Amino acid sequence: MTLRYASSPDEKLPFSDPTALPYEQSRRASHPPRERWIKRILPAILTLLALFALFRTAFVCNHRYEPGKPFSRMDVLEEREKVPLEIHVMSKCPDARDCLQKLILPTMVEVSDKVNFTMSFIGSIDPDSDAVSCKHGPGECLGNIILLCAAKVYQDVKIWLGFTNCMMSDYPDIPKRDLVESCAMEHGIDFAKLNTCISDEGEGIGLLRSSIQRSAENNVTRSCTVRLAGEVRCIRDGGEWYDCPGGSSVKDLVGDVNKLYSKGSI
Ligand SMILES: *[C@@H]1O[C@H](CO)[C@@H](O)[C@H](O)[C@H]1NC(C)=O
Ligand SMILES: *[C@@H]1O[C@H](CO)[C@@H](O)[C@H](O)[C@H]1NC(C)=O
Repeated sequence: MTLRYASSPDEKLPFSDPTALPYEQSRRASHPPRERWIKRILPAILTLLALFALFRTAFVCNHRYEPGKPFSRMDVLEEREKVPLEIHVMSKCPDARDCLQKLILPTMVEVSDKVNFTMSFIGSIDPDSDAVSCKHGPGECLGNIILLCAAKVYQDVKIWLGFTNCMMSDYPDIPKRDLVESCAMEHGIDFAKLNTCISDEGEGIGLLRSSIQRSAENNVTRSCTVRLAGEVRCIRDGGEWYDCPGGSSVKDLVGDVNKLYSKGSI
């Protein structure tokens, strides 16, 4: 494990012991399997079922109550190229939370089926040792890894973006186990699967390294930077919006996505 930290280099992440998973299994071990099933797995399955039912209803309603729209709307969408939308963030950053809540989530509610959404992280990589460090310390590196793992394991953006928003709403508590567990439960994410991704030597840290690399290659240094179709669209920093030539409102961003999308090849 080659994590090195900006602050408090002595501090160790839960997963610095290669024999242990990031979050020890003691709690799980204290519950017999049957009790665990009822306490954790069953509610997660119920949440998933409820989400599925909700989205199905929304989908059916869409068709039933919008007679003006072509009936084969989904077929049309599949043939068009999705618009790349990306945010570059740090998990323990209030600007990242604001950026998600004020701009990204409400935009995604309207146009999620038209964008290819990516979340990348900002940090630094030591060119000599490949060690990774994060501005707000080791907890932030772990928080970033948890969010990247959620996106990797659950590729449906509605799931991992909801989970990300849940975590970032309480960003000072990232990466406490209670927060991770309750957000995972709320969004139908299997904590054990997440934990495996985080601890797996190559996977979690490798995801973070390539994510940081990606931000660096695009010369992005400020959290939160929003890029649309490869261009910087808006920056949220110090509680303010900057460099937003097309405006920083949800309506502006939705309008830009729709414009780019309708230009895409059919
Ligand atoms: C979505 O964007 C990512 C990079 O952010 C890219 O690797 C991937 O190929 C894109 N997917 C599609 C379907 O365009
Ligand atoms: C990033 O900056 C470097 C040096 O200023 C430049 O050569 C490179 O083209 C930039 N990359 C992008 C994606 O803007």
